[in-house]
Amino acid sequence: MAAAQVLPASNPESLRLAAGVIRNGGLVAFPTETVYGLGCDALNPDAVTRIFEAKQRPSFDPLIVHIADRSALETLIPLLSTRERRLMEAFWPGPLTLVLPKHARVPDLVTAGLPTVAVRMPSHPVAQTLIREAGVPIAAPSANPFGYVSPTCAQHVVDGLGDRVDLILDGGPCPIGVESTIVSMGGTWPELLRPGSITIAALRKVIGPVVRATPNQTLTAPGHLPRHYATLTPMTILADPGIELMAPDHERVGLLAISQPNHRDDRLSAIEVLSATGDLREAARNLFAALRRLDALGLDRLYAESCDERGLGLAIMDRLRRCATPAN
Ligand code: TXA
Ligand code: MG
Repeated sequence: MAAAQVLPASNPESLRLAAGVIRNGGLVAFPTETVYGLGCDALNPDAVTRIFEAKQRPSFDPLIVHIADRSALETLIPLLSTRERRLMEAFWPGPLTLVLPKHARVPDLVTAGLPTVAVRMPSHPVAQTLIREAGVPIAAPSANPFGYVSPTCAQHVVDGLGDRVDLILDGGPCPIGVESTIVSMGGTWPELLRPGSITIAALRKVIGPVVRATPNQTLTAPGHLPRHYATLTPMTILADPGIELMAPDHERVGLLAISQPNHRDDRLSAIEVLSATGDLREAARNLFAALRRLDALGLDRLYAESCDERGLGLAIMDRLRRCATPAN
Protein backbone atom coordinates (compact mmCIF):
# COMPACT_ATOMS: atom_id res chain seq x y z
CA MET A 1 0.00 0.00 0.00
CA ALA A 2 1.19 3.57 -0.68
CA ALA A 3 2.09 5.88 2.19
CA ALA A 4 -0.97 7.00 4.12
CA GLN A 5 -2.38 10.48 3.82
CA VAL A 6 -1.85 12.52 6.97
CA LEU A 7 -4.64 15.06 7.42
CA PRO A 8 -5.08 17.76 10.07
CA ALA A 9 -7.82 16.67 12.45
CA SER A 10 -8.75 20.32 12.98
CA ASN A 11 -10.34 20.36 9.51
CA PRO A 12 -13.95 19.02 9.56
CA GLU A 13 -13.48 17.79 5.99
CA SER A 14 -10.66 15.45 7.17
CA LEU A 15 -13.01 13.95 9.72
CA ARG A 16 -15.75 13.41 7.15
CA LEU A 17 -13.26 11.70 4.85
CA ALA A 18 -11.96 9.54 7.69
CA ALA A 19 -15.49 8.52 8.72
CA GLY A 20 -16.13 7.45 5.11
CA VAL A 21 -12.95 5.33 5.13
CA ILE A 22 -14.13 3.58 8.31
CA ARG A 23 -17.62 2.94 6.89
CA ASN A 24 -16.03 1.44 3.76
CA GLY A 25 -13.98 -1.06 5.74
CA GLY A 26 -10.71 0.94 5.77
CA LEU A 27 -8.21 1.75 8.52
CA VAL A 28 -7.84 5.20 10.11
CA ALA A 29 -5.28 6.16 12.74
CA PHE A 30 -6.67 8.80 15.08
CA PRO A 31 -5.74 10.57 18.31
CA THR A 32 -7.32 9.73 21.66
CA GLU A 33 -6.53 11.26 25.04
CA THR A 34 -4.29 8.25 25.83
CA VAL A 35 -2.43 7.17 22.66
CA TYR A 36 -3.18 7.07 18.92
CA GLY A 37 -5.49 4.25 17.90
CA LEU A 38 -5.69 2.30 14.63
CA GLY A 39 -9.42 2.14 14.00
CA CYS A 40 -11.91 0.26 11.84
CA ASP A 41 -15.61 -0.66 11.88
CA ALA A 42 -15.82 -3.06 14.84
CA LEU A 43 -18.75 -4.92 13.28
CA ASN A 44 -16.95 -5.61 9.97
CA PRO A 45 -14.81 -8.79 10.32
CA ASP A 46 -12.84 -8.10 7.11
CA ALA A 47 -11.82 -4.68 8.37
CA VAL A 48 -10.88 -6.16 11.74
CA THR A 49 -8.71 -8.74 9.96
CA ARG A 50 -6.86 -5.89 8.24
CA ILE A 51 -6.03 -4.37 11.65
CA PHE A 52 -4.45 -7.61 12.83
CA GLU A 53 -2.47 -7.83 9.57
CA ALA A 54 -1.34 -4.20 9.65
CA LYS A 55 -0.06 -4.50 13.23
CA GLN A 56 1.12 -8.09 12.80
CA ARG A 57 -0.80 -8.70 15.96
CA PRO A 58 -1.48 -12.28 17.07
CA SER A 59 -5.16 -13.15 16.79
CA PHE A 60 -5.33 -14.14 20.48
CA ASP A 61 -4.98 -10.48 21.50
CA PRO A 62 -8.48 -8.89 21.63
CA LEU A 63 -9.28 -5.29 20.62
CA ILE A 64 -10.99 -2.46 22.48
CA VAL A 65 -14.24 -1.19 20.96
CA HIS A 66 -14.64 2.60 21.08
CA ILE A 67 -18.02 4.28 21.30
CA ALA A 68 -19.16 7.91 21.47
CA ASP A 69 -22.30 7.52 23.54
CA ARG A 70 -23.97 5.02 25.82
CA SER A 71 -26.72 4.15 23.32
CA ALA A 72 -24.05 2.30 21.29
CA LEU A 73 -23.73 -0.18 24.17
CA GLU A 74 -26.94 -1.85 23.06
CA THR A 75 -25.17 -3.38 20.04
CA LEU A 76 -22.26 -4.61 22.13
CA ILE A 77 -23.50 -5.96 25.46
CA PRO A 78 -26.78 -7.46 26.68
CA LEU A 79 -27.12 -5.71 30.06
CA LEU A 80 -25.39 -3.47 32.56
CA SER A 81 -24.88 -3.96 36.30
CA THR A 82 -25.11 -1.13 38.82
CA ARG A 83 -21.34 -1.11 39.33
CA GLU A 84 -20.72 -0.89 35.60
CA ARG A 85 -23.17 1.98 35.27
CA ARG A 86 -21.52 3.84 38.14
CA LEU A 87 -18.09 3.52 36.56
CA MET A 88 -19.40 4.81 33.25
CA GLU A 89 -21.07 7.76 34.97
CA ALA A 90 -17.89 8.61 36.85
CA PHE A 91 -15.25 8.11 34.16
CA TRP A 92 -16.82 8.20 30.67
CA PRO A 93 -15.93 9.78 28.40
CA GLY A 94 -12.35 9.16 29.50
CA PRO A 95 -9.45 6.72 29.75
CA LEU A 96 -11.29 3.76 31.30
CA THR A 97 -11.89 0.50 29.41
CA LEU A 98 -14.43 -1.94 30.83
CA VAL A 99 -14.35 -5.64 29.96
CA LEU A 100 -17.98 -6.79 29.86
CA PRO A 101 -19.93 -9.91 28.79
CA LYS A 102 -20.52 -9.49 25.06
CA HIS A 103 -23.43 -9.65 22.66
CA ALA A 104 -23.33 -12.41 20.03
CA ARG A 105 -23.17 -9.84 17.22
CA VAL A 106 -19.70 -8.61 18.23
CA PRO A 107 -17.38 -10.50 15.85
CA ASP A 108 -15.26 -13.18 17.55
CA LEU A 109 -12.24 -11.72 15.79
CA VAL A 110 -12.58 -8.52 17.84
CA THR A 111 -12.66 -10.37 21.14
CA ALA A 112 -10.25 -13.17 20.18
CA GLY A 113 -13.07 -15.63 20.79
CA LEU A 114 -13.62 -14.51 24.40
CA PRO A 115 -17.16 -14.21 25.79
CA THR A 116 -16.31 -10.64 26.84
CA VAL A 117 -15.72 -7.38 24.98
CA ALA A 118 -13.57 -4.42 26.06
CA VAL A 119 -15.41 -1.10 25.64
CA ARG A 120 -14.19 2.45 26.03
CA MET A 121 -15.64 5.91 25.39
CA PRO A 122 -12.72 8.22 24.63
CA SER A 123 -12.94 11.88 25.62
CA HIS A 124 -10.72 13.24 22.85
CA PRO A 125 -12.88 15.45 20.61
CA VAL A 126 -11.37 14.03 17.40
CA ALA A 127 -12.09 10.45 18.50
CA GLN A 128 -15.60 11.45 19.55
CA THR A 129 -16.38 13.15 16.23
CA LEU A 130 -14.88 10.33 14.18
CA ILE A 131 -16.99 7.67 15.93
CA ARG A 132 -20.17 9.79 15.63
CA GLU A 133 -19.63 10.57 11.95
CA ALA A 134 -18.74 6.96 11.11
CA GLY A 135 -21.94 5.86 12.83
CA VAL A 136 -20.41 2.54 13.94
CA PRO A 137 -18.42 1.42 16.98
CA ILE A 138 -14.70 1.58 16.19
CA ALA A 139 -12.34 -1.25 17.13
CA ALA A 140 -8.93 0.26 17.79
CA PRO A 141 -5.70 -1.07 19.22
CA SER A 142 -2.80 1.35 19.72
CA ALA A 143 -1.47 2.35 16.27
CA ASN A 144 1.95 0.67 16.48
CA PRO A 145 3.43 -2.57 15.16
CA PHE A 146 2.63 -5.31 17.69
CA GLY A 147 4.79 -5.21 20.81
CA TYR A 148 6.46 -1.86 20.07
CA VAL A 149 6.09 1.40 22.00
CA SER A 150 2.62 3.00 21.60
CA PRO A 151 2.32 6.19 19.49
CA THR A 152 1.57 9.52 21.14
CA CYS A 153 1.74 11.72 18.02
CA ALA A 154 0.91 11.33 14.31
CA GLN A 155 4.59 11.07 13.32
CA HIS A 156 4.95 7.95 15.51
CA VAL A 157 2.15 6.35 13.49
CA VAL A 158 3.81 7.33 10.21
CA ASP A 159 7.10 5.84 11.46
CA GLY A 160 5.57 2.50 12.45
CA LEU A 161 2.60 1.88 10.17
CA GLY A 162 2.75 4.64 7.54
CA ASP A 163 2.25 2.33 4.57
CA ARG A 164 -0.37 0.07 6.18
CA VAL A 165 -3.04 2.60 7.05
CA ASP A 166 -5.49 4.36 4.73
CA LEU A 167 -5.54 7.67 6.58
CA ILE A 168 -3.88 9.28 9.60
CA LEU A 169 -5.64 12.09 11.45
CA ASP A 170 -3.10 14.41 13.04
CA GLY A 171 -4.54 15.84 16.25
CA GLY A 172 -1.24 16.76 17.91
CA PRO A 173 0.29 15.01 20.93
CA CYS A 174 -1.90 12.88 23.22
CA PRO A 175 -2.54 14.62 26.55
CA ILE A 176 -2.26 11.53 28.80
CA GLY A 177 0.35 9.43 27.03
CA VAL A 178 -0.27 5.98 28.53
CA GLU A 179 -3.05 3.60 27.50
CA SER A 180 -6.41 3.44 29.27
CA THR A 181 -6.97 1.72 32.59
CA ILE A 182 -8.61 -1.67 31.90
CA VAL A 183 -11.02 -3.18 34.45
CA SER A 184 -12.64 -6.58 34.01
CA MET A 185 -16.19 -6.71 35.36
CA GLY A 186 -16.75 -10.43 34.74
CA GLY A 187 -15.63 -11.93 38.09
CA THR A 188 -16.90 -11.67 41.66
CA TRP A 189 -14.86 -8.50 42.12
CA PRO A 190 -13.89 -5.95 39.50
CA GLU A 191 -10.30 -6.61 38.53
CA LEU A 192 -7.64 -4.17 37.34
CA LEU A 193 -6.09 -5.72 34.21
CA ARG A 194 -3.99 -2.76 33.05
CA PRO A 195 -3.08 0.27 35.20
CA GLY A 196 -3.57 3.68 33.60
CA SER A 197 -4.26 7.27 34.54
CA ILE A 198 -7.53 6.38 36.30
CA THR A 199 -6.05 4.93 39.46
CA ILE A 200 -7.23 1.97 41.51
CA ALA A 201 -7.96 4.39 44.38
CA ALA A 202 -10.26 6.45 42.12
CA LEU A 203 -12.06 3.27 41.01
CA ARG A 204 -12.52 2.09 44.61
CA LYS A 205 -14.03 5.41 45.57
CA VAL A 206 -16.81 4.81 43.07
CA ILE A 207 -17.52 1.06 43.36
CA GLY A 208 -15.74 -0.21 46.48
CA PRO A 209 -13.40 -3.20 46.25
CA VAL A 210 -11.33 -3.59 43.09
CA VAL A 211 -8.73 -6.34 43.03
CA ARG A 212 -5.41 -6.14 41.28
CA ALA A 213 -4.79 -9.06 38.99
CA THR A 214 -1.70 -10.82 40.31
CA PRO A 215 1.36 -10.39 38.08
CA ASN A 216 0.96 -14.03 37.02
CA GLN A 217 -2.62 -13.46 35.98
CA THR A 218 -1.96 -10.26 34.05
CA LEU A 219 0.96 -11.84 32.29
CA THR A 220 -1.17 -14.72 31.07
CA ALA A 221 -4.35 -12.72 30.31
CA PRO A 222 -5.02 -12.32 26.59
CA GLY A 223 -2.74 -9.70 25.17
CA HIS A 224 -1.09 -8.88 28.48
CA LEU A 225 2.29 -10.14 27.42
CA PRO A 226 5.31 -9.85 29.68
CA ARG A 227 7.27 -8.17 26.88
CA HIS A 228 5.35 -5.27 25.37
CA TYR A 229 5.69 -1.53 24.72
CA ALA A 230 9.24 -2.57 24.00
CA THR A 231 12.17 -0.68 22.53
CA LEU A 232 14.48 -2.58 20.19
CA THR A 233 17.37 -1.54 22.46
CA PRO A 234 17.49 -3.75 25.56
CA MET A 235 16.48 -1.95 28.75
CA THR A 236 17.39 -2.40 32.40
CA ILE A 237 15.38 -0.85 35.22
CA LEU A 238 17.41 0.70 38.03
CA ALA A 239 15.77 -0.29 41.29
CA ASP A 240 17.67 2.27 43.33
CA PRO A 241 18.05 5.74 41.79
CA GLY A 242 21.51 6.15 43.31
CA ILE A 243 22.86 2.87 42.00
CA GLU A 244 25.90 2.80 39.71
CA LEU A 245 25.32 1.91 36.11
CA MET A 246 26.58 -1.61 35.55
CA ALA A 247 27.37 -1.16 31.87
CA PRO A 248 30.72 -2.49 30.65
CA ASP A 249 33.03 0.27 29.40
CA HIS A 250 32.64 -0.45 25.71
CA GLU A 251 28.83 -0.15 25.79
CA ARG A 252 27.06 3.02 24.65
CA VAL A 253 24.19 3.59 27.05
CA GLY A 254 21.27 5.97 27.51
CA LEU A 255 19.23 6.88 30.56
CA LEU A 256 15.52 7.44 31.00
CA ALA A 257 15.12 9.55 34.13
CA ILE A 258 11.74 10.13 35.74
CA SER A 259 12.87 13.47 37.19
CA GLN A 260 16.27 15.14 37.64
CA PRO A 261 18.71 12.34 36.87
CA ASN A 262 20.72 10.94 39.72
CA HIS A 263 23.20 9.48 37.28
CA ARG A 264 25.83 11.82 35.97
CA ASP A 265 27.94 9.03 34.59
CA ASP A 266 30.25 10.33 31.82
CA ARG A 267 29.53 7.28 29.76
CA LEU A 268 25.89 8.21 29.21
CA SER A 269 25.41 8.99 25.52
CA ALA A 270 21.91 10.35 26.06
CA ILE A 271 19.58 11.28 28.89
CA GLU A 272 15.82 11.79 28.64
CA VAL A 273 14.16 13.49 31.61
CA LEU A 274 10.42 12.77 31.74
CA SER A 275 9.58 15.63 34.10
CA ALA A 276 12.11 18.00 35.63
CA THR A 277 9.84 18.47 38.66
CA GLY A 278 8.93 14.77 38.99
CA ASP A 279 5.31 15.41 38.02
CA LEU A 280 4.00 11.96 37.06
CA ARG A 281 1.36 13.35 34.70
CA GLU A 282 4.03 15.12 32.72
CA ALA A 283 6.23 12.01 32.93
CA ALA A 284 3.45 9.77 31.52
CA ARG A 285 2.76 12.23 28.71
CA ASN A 286 6.44 12.19 27.67
CA LEU A 287 7.17 8.49 28.31
CA PHE A 288 6.63 6.90 24.90
CA ALA A 289 8.12 9.74 22.85
CA ALA A 290 11.23 9.67 25.08
CA LEU A 291 11.54 5.89 24.72
CA ARG A 292 11.29 6.21 20.95
CA ARG A 293 13.96 8.95 20.83
CA LEU A 294 16.34 6.85 22.92
CA ASP A 295 15.61 3.77 20.82
CA ALA A 296 16.35 5.67 17.60
CA LEU A 297 19.95 6.31 18.76
CA GLY A 298 20.87 2.65 18.32
CA LEU A 299 22.64 2.45 21.70
CA ASP A 300 23.72 -0.83 23.29
CA ARG A 301 21.51 -0.49 26.34
CA LEU A 302 18.99 1.80 28.00
CA TYR A 303 18.65 2.27 31.74
CA ALA A 304 15.41 3.49 33.27
CA GLU A 305 15.02 4.99 36.72
CA SER A 306 12.02 3.74 38.71
CA CYS A 307 9.29 5.75 40.39
CA ASP A 308 6.97 5.03 43.29
CA GLU A 309 4.20 2.68 42.21
CA ARG A 310 1.44 4.94 43.45
CA GLY A 311 -1.18 6.65 41.31
CA LEU A 312 0.11 7.07 37.76
CA GLY A 313 3.44 5.62 38.92
CA LEU A 314 1.87 2.15 38.74
CA ALA A 315 1.03 2.63 35.04
CA ILE A 316 4.48 4.02 34.24
CA MET A 317 6.31 1.18 35.99
CA ASP A 318 4.00 -1.41 34.35
CA ARG A 319 5.05 -0.11 30.92
CA LEU A 320 8.75 0.11 31.83
CA ARG A 321 8.79 -3.41 33.26
CA ARG A 322 7.25 -4.90 30.14
CA CYS A 323 9.65 -2.89 27.99
CA ALA A 324 12.57 -4.24 30.03
CA THR A 325 11.46 -7.89 29.79
CA PRO A 326 14.03 -9.57 27.52
CA ALA A 327 12.86 -11.02 24.22
CA ASN A 328 13.29 -14.74 24.94
O1 TXA B 1 -5.90 3.75 25.63
C1 TXA B 1 -6.19 2.74 25.01
O2 TXA B 1 -6.84 1.81 25.53
C2 TXA B 1 -5.76 2.66 23.55
C3 TXA B 1 -6.51 3.70 22.74
C4 TXA B 1 -6.25 3.60 21.26
O3 TXA B 1 -7.88 3.63 23.03
N1 TXA B 1 -5.94 1.33 23.04
C5 TXA B 1 -5.15 0.28 23.38
O4 TXA B 1 -5.44 -0.88 22.71
O5 TXA B 1 -4.27 0.37 24.21
P1 TXA B 1 -4.46 -2.15 22.69
O6 TXA B 1 -5.06 -3.08 21.70
O7 TXA B 1 -3.08 -1.72 22.44
O8 TXA B 1 -4.63 -2.79 24.10
C6 TXA B 1 -5.87 -3.37 24.42
C7 TXA B 1 -5.71 -4.51 25.39
C8 TXA B 1 -5.40 -5.85 24.76
O9 TXA B 1 -4.06 -6.08 24.56
C9 TXA B 1 -5.95 -6.80 25.78
O10 TXA B 1 -4.95 -7.02 26.73
C10 TXA B 1 -7.06 -6.01 26.45
O11 TXA B 1 -7.00 -4.71 25.96
N2 TXA B 1 -8.37 -6.57 26.14
C11 TXA B 1 -9.17 -6.29 25.09
N3 TXA B 1 -10.28 -7.05 25.13
C12 TXA B 1 -10.20 -7.80 26.24
C13 TXA B 1 -11.03 -8.78 26.84
N4 TXA B 1 -12.19 -9.13 26.28
N5 TXA B 1 -10.60 -9.36 27.98
C14 TXA B 1 -9.43 -9.01 28.56
N6 TXA B 1 -8.58 -8.09 28.03
C15 TXA B 1 -8.96 -7.50 26.89
MG1 MG C 1 -1.11 -1.69 22.33
